[in-house]
Amino acid sequence: MMADLPARLLAAVYDRAIAGAERRFLGRWRRELLTGVTGTVLEIGSGTGLNLPHYPATVERLVLSEPDPYMRIRLEKKLDRQPAPPELLTCGAEQLDFPDGSFDAVISTLVLCSVKDPAVALREIHRVLRPGGRLHFLEHVLSEHPGISFWQHTLEPLWKRTCGNCHLTRATGELIGEAGFEVETMEDLRMEGVPIIVRRALRGVAVKPAAGA
Ligand SMILES: C[S@@+](CC[C@H](N)C(=O)[O-])C[C@H]1O[C@@H](n2cnc3c(N)ncnc32)[C@H](O)[C@@H]1O
Repeated sequence: MMADLPARLLAAVYDRAIAGAERRFLGRWRRELLTGVTGTVLEIGSGTGLNLPHYPATVERLVLSEPDPYMRIRLEKKLDRQPAPPELLTCGAEQLDFPDGSFDAVISTLVLCSVKDPAVALREIHRVLRPGGRLHFLEHVLSEHPGISFWQHTLEPLWKRTCGNCHLTRATGELIGEAGFEVETMEDLRMEGVPIIVRRALRGVAVKPAAGA
């Protein structure tokens, strides 16, 4: 019970903690990231469901996955209010319960910082995408500024214990390339008004190359 306390607290405060950033820029960034997403779509680490209002009508089937039970309770409440709720699974991104090539798109927003092993998760995302399928990502990452990266490395052990295993020092852009994706677009953004150790974010689209390409 006590061991669960940080996860319970994080889920309880998440929407309120992020509300200012959602109003200022994150809501728009999410909407823009999801514009043009079509077909059968998997979202990993859906959290409390902040992407839900931004999915376009071109999505034919939406599958959400959220391994944290406390996040999931809040997500389920939002899904209950939807006329046609998407499917909801409990699997983590490192082991997705789907055959190869099941999805046209995978969505990951602020998740690859928190998974146990981002390289394994990215290989698994690559596996479940069809050839030509796309990963749409928005992730905070290691700063290029030595002064900031010093503090990211210094504070990470405490931060990840209190913030749901969120790592401050992941080089997610490089990891996406190493997992076999071709990066189609990648913007280097600043989340203004949030703590400087989580301010740098990458947003973009990476493609699983078509077979034989
Ligand atoms: C900072 S929250 C982001 C939630 C949501 N994607 C958003 O954009 O607001 C990180 C999420 O990643 C989830 N997560 C942690 N480990 C995971 C894993 N191994 N696989 C998938 N999701 C994971 C957490 O449960 C949490 O919901």
